[in-house]
Amino acid sequence: MEMVTLTIDGQVVRVPAGTTVLEAAQQAGIDIPTLCYLKEINKIGACRVCLVEIKGARGLQASCVYPVAEGMEVKTNTPSIREARKAVVELILSNHPMECLTCNRSTNCELQALAKKLGIKDIRFTGANTAFEPDLSSPSIERIPDKCILCRRCVAVCNQVQGVGVLGLTERGFESLVAPPFHRTLNEVNCTFCGQCINVCPVGALREKDHTQRVWEALNDPDKHVIVQTAPAVRVA
Ligand code: FES
Repeated sequence: MEMVTLTIDGQVVRVPAGTTVLEAAQQAGIDIPTLCYLKEINKIGACRVCLVEIKGARGLQASCVYPVAEGMEVKTNTPSIREARKAVVELILSNHPMECLTCNRSTNCELQALAKKLGIKDIRFTGANTAFEPDLSSPSIERIPDKCILCRRCVAVCNQVQGVGVLGLTERGFESLVAPPFHRTLNEVNCTFCGQCINVCPVGALREKDHTQRVWEALNDPDKHVIVQTAPAVRVA
């Protein structure tokens, strides 16, 4: 196997040719933040959070799609890199609903965690915000496109891993969204409700349907017959 030697933050790293700079850094224990990258499934360079400096390359580069080369010199943590990553995350947040207090992914959200890690306390950018209709049609999966950061991890897992292929990128520019084709709902396409898209979503754009309210209503409705299973009594000697 052809091997390549490069330096990352002054550390000599030897990896197989074809490895990306991000993966080489990970192998060396160097942390580079990511949002759209999903190991072996999604490498599309969409979010630009993984920016690094590569000697001789023009401008900062997305490390998740940049292949290593012999003698390459990479820096991952300079003030300008940190500032660029911060600006990228602020831009994403500028079109993201500020509903963290009521979002089911709060404290388990990669975007929220990254904003905290980068020390983002204010968002310098303001502008138009998308206003897509949520898709609540499916019995188990809810799609909230306004929270989507277009990382397309769900698209990759739905198409390449599960082979279902009901999610894709649709429309263009500011109107871009991840959805079933032809503006269908999840209930109108061949979604198998496997839930893998929810598993890989870094934010709260895809979530499990909460049936708590329905169960509560049913329990309080004398016309509905609900069988409540209780655990068998344990006999204490
Ligand atoms: Fe590299 Fe998103 S993780 S561009």
